Amino acid sequence: MRARIAATGSYVPERVLTNFDLEKMVDTSDEWIRERTGIRERRIAAEKEAASDLAYEAAKAAFKKTDIKPKDIELIIVATVSGDMPFPATACHLQHKLGLKKAAAFDINAACSGFLYGLSIANGFIRSGTYKRILLIGSELLSRITDWEDRSTCVLFGDGAGAAILEATNEDRGIISTHLRADGSMWELLHMPGGGSRHPASKDTVKKKMHCIKMKGNETFKIAVRTLEGLVRETLAENKLKISQLSLLIPHQANLRIIQATAERLDIPIEKVMVNIDKYGNTSAASIPIALDEAVRQGRVRDGDYVLLEAFGGGLTWASVLIKW
Ligand code: ACO
Repeated sequence: MRARIAATGSYVPERVLTNFDLEKMVDTSDEWIRERTGIRERRIAAEKEAASDLAYEAAKAAFKKTDIKPKDIELIIVATVSGDMPFPATACHLQHKLGLKKAAAFDINAACSGFLYGLSIANGFIRSGTYKRILLIGSELLSRITDWEDRSTCVLFGDGAGAAILEATNEDRGIISTHLRADGSMWELLHMPGGGSRHPASKDTVKKKMHCIKMKGNETFKIAVRTLEGLVRETLAENKLKISQLSLLIPHQANLRIIQATAERLDIPIEKVMVNIDKYGNTSAASIPIALDEAVRQGRVRDGDYVLLEAFGGGLTWASVLIKW
């Protein structure tokens, strides 16, 4: 028994925030942002939207592409670091919006690697025979936890959601292997300190903007490139595949320079790498499912193709998932 992705869907909010808009907010320039990150614009959710609303739209888009109905779903997993509220889980809000009563629902927090951690969990449930149909979503409103006065982070992030509907199959296709890693000793490189039990919300935490993302970008960058190269090599070696056998690499969209440097070190032509960071910026757990959905819609993923997904983010966490489509 294998788990395969039966359908994908995605949703990004209507409002576009361009680099030129950011020039009016902080001391930055369109040129700096494009050259250092590859980002041209990002989407920003409307005031009334929360993570489960974006997740719901992405799920609806996915259900349109398959015969599987919401009522067939036995488990909902949402990967997010910007959920509707600390609890209950955004997955529970989504379950309610989908009108489901029986599906189990929980969130996972593995920052930008969240969707791939989710794929690994879903794969385990399906392979063990526990569930046959699972809805997995990455949904983020990073705009809500961004310090809009900090030019070193506010130019990077955006909002969006991507969905995958997984089902059990006996065919020779689906998720082949999943690889999850973490190193908590480097948690300070990328974190949001306020609002948890270490620093509960108070006037002081709000004043110090502790409810916003803090990142040591340059250090994170160097570790990301090194780590991702190693992870892709390990994943392929374990499956006795050559790099040339990969049809498409779908990386987490954190920075175009990270994506290019990783591809160069691996000797993967950039045409075989999915890139859409220019339109959405870094949407953390949503970035890979949005990119995957776009790749599917653009016809870049065909039956029998080997597709490799890889991500790196807060935790630190990193992960890869190899799929035979
Ligand atoms: N506009 C203009 N100048 C800026 C800006 C800006 N928006 N931001 C920083 N600068 C300046 C800095 O102040 C610095 O100036 P100085 O030399 O006078 O001190 C200079 O630009 C260089 O700053 P660096 O931080 O060294 O720039 P770098 O080339 O590393 O780019 C960036 C910064 C884009 C953040 C990059 O380091 C990066 O993408 N890092 C990795 C991010 C990542 O992968 N995160 C993990 C996933 S995200 C997640 O899990 C949510």
